[in-house]
Amino acid sequence: MQKISIDFSKTKGFIADGAVQQIEKEVLTAQQKLHDKSGAGNDFLGWLNLPSSITAEHLKEVKATAERLSKQSEVVVVVGIGGSYLGARAVIDALSNSFDFLQSERKAPVVVYAGQNIGEDYTAELLDLLSNKDFSVVVISKSGTTTEPAIAFRLLKELLEKKYPAAEVKDRIVAITDASKGALRTLADREGYQTYVIPDDVGGRYSVLTPVGLLPIAIAGLDIEQLVKGAVDMETATAPGVAYDQNPSTLYAAVRNLLYQKGKTTEILVNYHPKLHFLAEWWKQLYGESEGKENKGIFPAAVDFTTDLHSMGQWIQEGERNIFETVISVEGANRKLEVPSDKDDLDGLNYLAGKRIDEVNKMAELGTLVAHVDGGVPNIRISVPQLNEYYIGQLIFFFEKACGISGYVLGVNPFDQPGVEAYKKNMFALLGKPGFEKETEALRKRI
Ligand code: PA5
Repeated sequence: MQKISIDFSKTKGFIADGAVQQIEKEVLTAQQKLHDKSGAGNDFLGWLNLPSSITAEHLKEVKATAERLSKQSEVVVVVGIGGSYLGARAVIDALSNSFDFLQSERKAPVVVYAGQNIGEDYTAELLDLLSNKDFSVVVISKSGTTTEPAIAFRLLKELLEKKYPAAEVKDRIVAITDASKGALRTLADREGYQTYVIPDDVGGRYSVLTPVGLLPIAIAGLDIEQLVKGAVDMETATAPGVAYDQNPSTLYAAVRNLLYQKGKTTEILVNYHPKLHFLAEWWKQLYGESEGKENKGIFPAAVDFTTDLHSMGQWIQEGERNIFETVISVEGANRKLEVPSDKDDLDGLNYLAGKRIDEVNKMAELGTLVAHVDGGVPNIRISVPQLNEYYIGQLIFFFEKACGISGYVLGVNPFDQPGVEAYKKNMFALLGKPGFEKETEALRKRI
């Protein structure tokens, strides 16, 4: 199996020689805690062996649902936020044509997103677009009560009910939610929507390989079998029996914790392919929600290079030295495009004529790597042979596994997110939600 690989050589000099070996025991203990389910949050470990537990029948069923929705829809709206949104978008954006939404000859419907914000203009513009399109809705919420997707779903359901007869509306909605709890489950059962269950023991940010991610990804026309195969192979490559220094997840967990101990409190995930922007957004949620607690945790940030070299490059090169970079380096482009020659050469680019665009990108990457290391920014490099479902599947499971280990090494529960409730309580009080009356007055005085 060819697999993604990691190069830590550009962290040398930033952490002590031999430090990675010295914390081997600590990291393996953290990994063991995951596997024997003895650590904090051990009731949320359903993702740990999820890839290898996915059956061919399950994938077939998900694909059949995707096909049914695709046949009846020009557009499928995926409604969800956080862990119920980012994984699907990460994979779909990484592997779809960048101008997919403008393609006239399509094999799959256009996938658009709703309920990932409370933007009135965004939502109104989406409803305008959908009023002239055949569309279906995949509504995803584990709790079934999250405000953003609930508002969006109300509006979308109303539009469906205006456009289609009642019997058809129910066939245009698929709900992915808890097996028995929550408003979405109640509604889905009452209205007879097709449903998929988000397992109790899989938290939102670890749910991309459940129907939460798989159904939207299949609707976008991508190969979910290959995605899962990549994840299964990474499950094997990171299994407890694999040697510490051969296991990319244990090494990544070790090195980022060592850098953190050296004051590198921000990790920047870097990509050189704009399609990976949302993979970084998914990664930010995974690591941010898993580790940022008890006044601890690396701050996960992300940049798209070379675009952001023209905005954030200065800060990264010469700003406060509390950062390290983790670069996702894609070895080869899927398409071939060369810099053309020009007879006048006014822009002086003829020295590049005949070179692949990807080679220029790669030299930008390597030049930046050395410049940033010289500037005091340690660099971890993750090489991905190609952008396809198989390697994205590997990458997803690699990051998930490393995150669980890293959180335990840091000494936090990587599977809860108590902090995300604080803003909700205040928002409900300010909006006058029944039950929050006491907080409302006190809060208004503080604003
Ligand atoms: O990780 C989390 O818990 C959150 O980001 C959730 O994924 C997000 O709030 C969506 O929750 P739900 O699926 O319950 O609507």
